[in-house]
Amino acid sequence: MTSLPTILVFDSGLGGLTVLREVVRARPDAHYVYVGDDAFFPYGQRSEEAVIGRVVPLMGELIAAHAPDLVVIACNTASTMTLAPLRARYRVPFVGTVPAIKPACAGSRTKRVSVLGTSATVRLEYTRALIRDFAQGCEVSLVGSIRLATLAETALGGGEVTDAAIRAEIAPCFVEADAKRGRTDAVVLACTHYPLLLDRLIRLAPWPVDWIDPAPAIARRVVTLLGPATGHAPTPGAEMIFTSGRHPRASAALAPYFGGRIPA
Ligand code: DGL
Repeated sequence: MTSLPTILVFDSGLGGLTVLREVVRARPDAHYVYVGDDAFFPYGQRSEEAVIGRVVPLMGELIAAHAPDLVVIACNTASTMTLAPLRARYRVPFVGTVPAIKPACAGSRTKRVSVLGTSATVRLEYTRALIRDFAQGCEVSLVGSIRLATLAETALGGGEVTDAAIRAEIAPCFVEADAKRGRTDAVVLACTHYPLLLDRLIRLAPWPVDWIDPAPAIARRVVTLLGPATGHAPTPGAEMIFTSGRHPRASAALAPYFGGRIPA
């Protein structure tokens, strides 16, 4: 491997930017190719067969075109559905994004945790198995959101998203205290789009909770696999590709996610 690796970061849309931001912080010297499969968005409304049938061959094309040293699947829905077939098919290392149930439950004081993801992610056996294995005595509520990923895309694109729309999506995460335990004190952000709205989630929550974002752990995993930053100057650019063929907005709003670079 060269000292300046190429890292391909993949999501159904713009949510993977929240993972990219942390990976770029950890490896500012790498070359980045960000791919948003917006032609097939939202994955959360698709069946497992449909997402596997879409992502596995598409990844083959992306690997052939960009020769990445590592691929980050920056999407919970795609990771929980496709990581196993991707690893079986391709030799490049894959780092996935899976609901951060273990750290959320470990840190919960009230032992009441919610997992906020796409309806597909919360329905999957993969996610239910994580709860069986890592709930550590917590009561875990699975909350499938139909609209929140789309609302996050709209907000990042400068569109109007009302507080009421966000409140309605997050409300089921907040479970009041009962005789057995206190109210919810941690919410797992089990969709990479949701941290795009973090400021508003914090503001609109009926009470303060820990919002658990897996992105820093993913960045640490990338460093474990590729090694730490080399100290070389960052490469001048990064690429952003949408499968719909739309041109990325060369906007300053995206630059912070790319470590200050404006993606081509
Ligand atoms: N960003 C994706 C995730 O983490 C989902 C958005 C979608 O529904 O495509 O689950």
